[in-house]
Amino acid sequence: MEGAASEGAATKAPDAEAADRIAAILRARQHQPGALLPILHDVQDALGFVPADAVPAIAGALNLSRAEVHGVISFYHHFRDRPAGRHVLQLCRAEACQAVGADALADHAQRELGCGWHQTSADGAITLEPVYCLGQCAVGPALMAGTELHGGVTPARLDALLTALRQRDAGYDDARQDPVASMSDDEVSR
Ligand code: FES
Repeated sequence: MEGAASEGAATKAPDAEAADRIAAILRARQHQPGALLPILHDVQDALGFVPADAVPAIAGALNLSRAEVHGVISFYHHFRDRPAGRHVLQLCRAEACQAVGADALADHAQRELGCGWHQTSADGAITLEPVYCLGQCAVGPALMAGTELHGGVTPARLDALLTALRQRDAGYDDARQDPVASMSDDEVSR
């Protein structure tokens, strides 16, 4: 049986919870020099994105205009103004990976997911983002799925990864048969 505080939290509207978290971040950061970027990072880490509703509060706390805050959010592709999919797939677009097929892999990923960069597949599973070097230049094309690094990613390996991520969403948890696990092992040894 949950206590009264937990019941209160459970019945709180999600946007009120988000507002509380944003307020706590502002209290902790607003007096630091150059606080805007750390605040935006904290908000995105806490909520998964920087909601439009947060902009007035951030602007007010830092004595900036809303346009200035919005300008920073839209300048840095890292910041999202809407929730990401259940998995974020970052494909390396830098030179060494491009030299070994990253462009073709990117085209394949966009076709398979039916979305472009910084967008999410229609089923809400995968958000596709470009990234510029993952430190895996010797085993490109490289990508990061959540916190997992993968190298030597061919279109077929990408398809296996997408299938595995969706299987995870569906509760498929047998690691021995997980295509991501077997693919990563193989790639690590390359
Ligand atoms: S260029 Fe792709 S990982 Fe470095």
